[in-house]
Amino acid sequence: MNSKYAPFFEPFTFSSGVEVKNRIVMAPMTNFSSNSDGTVTDAEVKYYARRSSGAGMVITACTYVTANGKGFHGEFGGDRDELIPSLKQVANAIKEQGAKAVLQIFHGGRQCPPELVKNGEIVSASAIPAEGDGKPVPRELTDQEIESIIHDFGETTRRAIEAGYDGVELHGANGYLIQQFFSPHSNIREDRWGGSIEKRLSFPLAVVDEVKKVAAEHARGPFMIGYRFSPEEPETPGITMAETLVLIDALADKNLDYLHVSLQEFWSKPRRGVEDSRARIEIIHERVGDKVPVIGVGSLYTADEALKAIQTGVPFIALGRELIIDPDWVQKVSEGREAEIVTKIDKNKQQELVVPDPLWQAIIHTPGWFPMNE
Ligand SMILES: Cc1cc2nc3c(=O)[nH]c(=O)nc-3n(C[C@H](O)[C@H](O)[C@H](O)COP(=O)(O)O)c2cc1C
Repeated sequence: MNSKYAPFFEPFTFSSGVEVKNRIVMAPMTNFSSNSDGTVTDAEVKYYARRSSGAGMVITACTYVTANGKGFHGEFGGDRDELIPSLKQVANAIKEQGAKAVLQIFHGGRQCPPELVKNGEIVSASAIPAEGDGKPVPRELTDQEIESIIHDFGETTRRAIEAGYDGVELHGANGYLIQQFFSPHSNIREDRWGGSIEKRLSFPLAVVDEVKKVAAEHARGPFMIGYRFSPEEPETPGITMAETLVLIDALADKNLDYLHVSLQEFWSKPRRGVEDSRARIEIIHERVGDKVPVIGVGSLYTADEALKAIQTGVPFIALGRELIIDPDWVQKVSEGREAEIVTKIDKNKQQELVVPDPLWQAIIHTPGWFPMNE
């Protein structure tokens, strides 16, 4: 290995006691390939196995904690005990290849396709649709339903423990239910769950507390809890960088194992809310300091691009599309073969890359999503 890449390969022990062998994380990626009953398919299990011998930790696609939180066709479920064997198949596939397995847990809220939820009734913090033509108006959740969904996050955490995962990541990013409660766009409630920024924080923090409680009760060994958030929303009103700093101050006090910033572009800059021309990730990392490790992500295709990112001091780098395009990204760097890393998808290599059909079709038919060899 070229010694300049040594920072990628430093082991790390999280506050829960979970140890990882390196600083590369596989980013959570939905693959649309599970069965309609919420069980995983062999194709997706093989897809995870193929990508789990390099990164220190693999975060799965998001799984729904409540039936009316299913956000994607072909999403695997975590909302019922019958699904524990299915959850276990993915955990085993990841761990057998040497990575730690983290289950990303979520509720899609107003972003769920109505045909995936009972009676087509989608729910959210308030009855406000997402922006865009024809978006359905969600029904505002009752206080009791909110308590029930918080409980469901705990129940899915218990299932993750029973299925052998090393941790869970709370999906508080990308506009789904946890974020919908924090956002002034989707939350105009005037009860204990909304009104002031502190009250908009109540749901995300209650989910954190519930998941921590369940982990303390059920985990027999180290079990980590991470939280993923999106730093800003484009809508007005919407989450600003200034509000995100309030969120991360609150999260940093919760003794979590890590905070994961969801970005398409690692170096992207704030849209509004702060007078600071640095990248969002640098502002966030400075604010969090040493309180909790941060994972950065976004369009880091080559070894040198990822190196520049980790040289900011952010302790972990997540790779998403990069590991679909080249499952051997990490091994190539560790073997001094970084020049051989593939950075564009080759439309003829589905079998070799071990990518399930629904994900492959989405990739090759969505212009601009993945860099592609023409
Ligand atoms: C196919 C695909 C599915 C994704 N699904 C999820 C998901 O389930 N949960 C999530 O937090 N982010 C999801 N993302 C976002 C990625 O985790 C990541 O933030 C984004 O792709 C940018 O990183 P990259 O440039 O390394 O791919 C998805 C991205 C892709 C490409």
